[in-house]
Amino acid sequence: MSEQFVPGLENVPAVKTKVSALDVVKEKIIIRGYDLIELAQTVSYLDVAHLLIYEKLPDAADATRFADDIRKEMALPDAMYDVFEKLPKGMDAMDLLRTGLSILAGYEDHKLLADNSKAANIQKGIKILAKAPAIMVNAYRANQGQVIVKPDPALSFSENFLYMIQGEKPNADTAKMFDMILTCYIDHELPNSTFTARVIASTLADIYGAIVGGVASLKGPLHGGANEACVYMMLDVLQNGGSAKAEELIMGKLARKDKIMGFGHRVYMKKYDPRAWLLKDYVPKLTSRHKDGEELYKIYQTIERVMAREKGIYPNADYPIGLMFYLLGIPIDLYTPIFFCSRIAGLVAHITEQHSDNRLIRPRALYDGAEDLHPPKA
Ligand SMILES: CC(C)(COP(=O)(O)OP(=O)(O)OC[C@H]1O[C@@H](n2cnc3c(N)ncnc32)[C@H](O)[C@@H]1OP(=O)(O)O)[C@@H](O)C(=O)NCCC(=O)NCCS
Repeated sequence: MSEQFVPGLENVPAVKTKVSALDVVKEKIIIRGYDLIELAQTVSYLDVAHLLIYEKLPDAADATRFADDIRKEMALPDAMYDVFEKLPKGMDAMDLLRTGLSILAGYEDHKLLADNSKAANIQKGIKILAKAPAIMVNAYRANQGQVIVKPDPALSFSENFLYMIQGEKPNADTAKMFDMILTCYIDHELPNSTFTARVIASTLADIYGAIVGGVASLKGPLHGGANEACVYMMLDVLQNGGSAKAEELIMGKLARKDKIMGFGHRVYMKKYDPRAWLLKDYVPKLTSRHKDGEELYKIYQTIERVMAREKGIYPNADYPIGLMFYLLGIPIDLYTPIFFCSRIAGLVAHITEQHSDNRLIRPRALYDGAEDLHPPKA
């Protein structure tokens, strides 16, 4: 056994992939050979989902067929809505999504569920991708005692997603911005949730189980949960003196060695996350949509300035996206679940790749416990 121990597997290559890469030197996120930031600016979320799942950007006919496939799969079994009503009130929205996706596996054809071939994984993956937004939003709505908003197949993927969240059809600008955010979240090499999904898939467990494990991982505040946590931090500053006090409050947190949510990244760490770099220019376009928008944006800028000066650490994608979601009027509880719904396209690609060329992931542990203890004699 190799004696080299790398806590947190930092910089350890754990899988080989053709799906995506983080090129830290060129400061690029690569999705199947394309620059994610260029994709986010030029094509739709579903186009990039097609690229991930089918390994090519769609032409017009592919795009129409893919959108139709998603549309046909958007509806949920009616009984799922009954289950949503019966779940304990006050559940966390990520736990609701995790539970809902587990239930969905129960509706899968048993033979197809156990089939880990590429074709079967793509078929199931498209189903999960299409249904996840309706599961996520409506499990949450039911849990909050709100009316259910069933998916509207006449709308595009992103329009429908926002429509279910907000109960009204979004305008074209809002839907486009939301679509771009989903694209930014779509895949990101091997974060904890993708690794988790691949670890599960490597036992030849099915795609549903691997994706459900991914939800559990993404919930953590060191991972996807940061988009919610950074907005709570900005709101806390707003309520405790606003932008005039932002610097002092952040300096206090740094002195206490608190982590500032939405900053830093295991891979980029001292560099700007390319997604945050793209999205930072879109935040000011949304400030007029909320009464506190201008002030929150000042707080956002102040925290960013203090972090760069004090720590040389820059925002990750969750920082602008958290504030953008807030300014778009999306309930904070849903930020991390939305992130996950977007990431499903990437996970389908990773899980399919893992199943196609599998080796069980089973590392070793360095034992550091007690030695030579013997059971007490009777
Ligand atoms: C993402 C994250 C977990 C990566 O952490 P990591 O690779 O384990 O790095 P460490 O936590 O060991 O941090 C390394 C150094 O940077 C500092 N640092 C990293 N992120 C920081 C942050 N968000 N706020 C304050 N300091 C931070 C640490 O305090 C440490 O400083 P030190 O060497 O002076 O002690 C970490 O940056 C973090 O907790 N960020 C906030 C949560 C977040 O936004 N997560 C979403 C990631 S996409």
